[in-house]
Amino acid sequence: MAKEQVFYHIPVLLKEVVELLVTDENGIYVDGTIGGGGHSEKILERLGEGGRIFGFDKDIEAIEFCKERFKGELERGERSRIELFNECFSKACSITRHRGEWTGFLLDLGVSSRQLDESRRGFSYRAVGPLDLRFSPHGQTAEDLVNAANEEVLAALLQRYGEEPFAKKIAKAIVQQRKISPLRTTVDLAKVVENVVPKKYLVKSLSRVFQAIRIAINDELNVLENALFASLGCLSKGGRIVVISYHSLEDRIVKNFFRKFSLSKVNETSKIMPRLKVLTKKPIVPSKEEIALNPRSRSAKLRAAEKIS
Ligand SMILES: C[S@@+](CC[C@H](N)C(=O)[O-])C[C@H]1O[C@@H](n2cnc3c(N)ncnc32)[C@H](O)[C@@H]1O
Repeated sequence: MAKEQVFYHIPVLLKEVVELLVTDENGIYVDGTIGGGGHSEKILERLGEGGRIFGFDKDIEAIEFCKERFKGELERGERSRIELFNECFSKACSITRHRGEWTGFLLDLGVSSRQLDESRRGFSYRAVGPLDLRFSPHGQTAEDLVNAANEEVLAALLQRYGEEPFAKKIAKAIVQQRKISPLRTTVDLAKVVENVVPKKYLVKSLSRVFQAIRIAINDELNVLENALFASLGCLSKGGRIVVISYHSLEDRIVKNFFRKFSLSKVNETSKIMPRLKVLTKKPIVPSKEEIALNPRSRSAKLRAAEKIS
């Protein structure tokens, strides 16, 4: 398995995740972004016979990969400690509610190395591929979006989800280019960006533009907020939420959510007690050693909280 693990994705902050998340060997754990199953495998190692992992991923290829990875466990049928769901993690609470309260909820956001390296998914500007960028084959693609949205919408989206300083220029150039011919591939889009952004900012702009479009078409920020909120209804008292984010927009949502629910509120008639205790005053980040071994971990930030009421 070690070979496939490197090939699919190297799990980030693995030891830290397991230590923070697993508090009961017979608990229920939801891995909302199972990907290549790296985190889940380590969680599984810590579980007793009564423990369960419900692994979610919107990407059917991740689920298929995990079916192989956890074949031995899955073959135990009803006794299998892992179950896989090809669904969005925002549905995890409604799908698993009848199975019992959660002891832990893990979200390792963003894309896996497999998705980035697979040019036909269009997640990376470094390789020629279709302008897709969806986690699942439903809904509009990046191609639909960049060829249909008006200039103001495109500029706002690049600004909001990419914090891209050249957003207006890039949006204008996209609209001009598509009058000549529609943008079909990652390279078509990358070329438009290249034409308007000074060379020294190009690499950063390209990642921000692709990030912004990915966030928009997968509605990533709303999905994250909804899932965090829903998880409060499914976690047991003492249950933990652990989230690894890879850019400031996601991290801000997690930080604000934890803050909001860890404060007590007083109104005219009553005092509302906090529902969460924040376990990470500052986010946990990968060590220099981890970043050297896995450069894709460099922007990771882990935050965790415990449900207290
Ligand atoms: C960084 S990878 C997770 C890697 C995983 N922790 C591992 O150890 O291999 C993120 C995964 O989340 C999935 N994903 C992204 N958004 C999702 C969503 N809304 N619902 C379910 N899965 C999602 C992606 O398809 C991807 O496989």
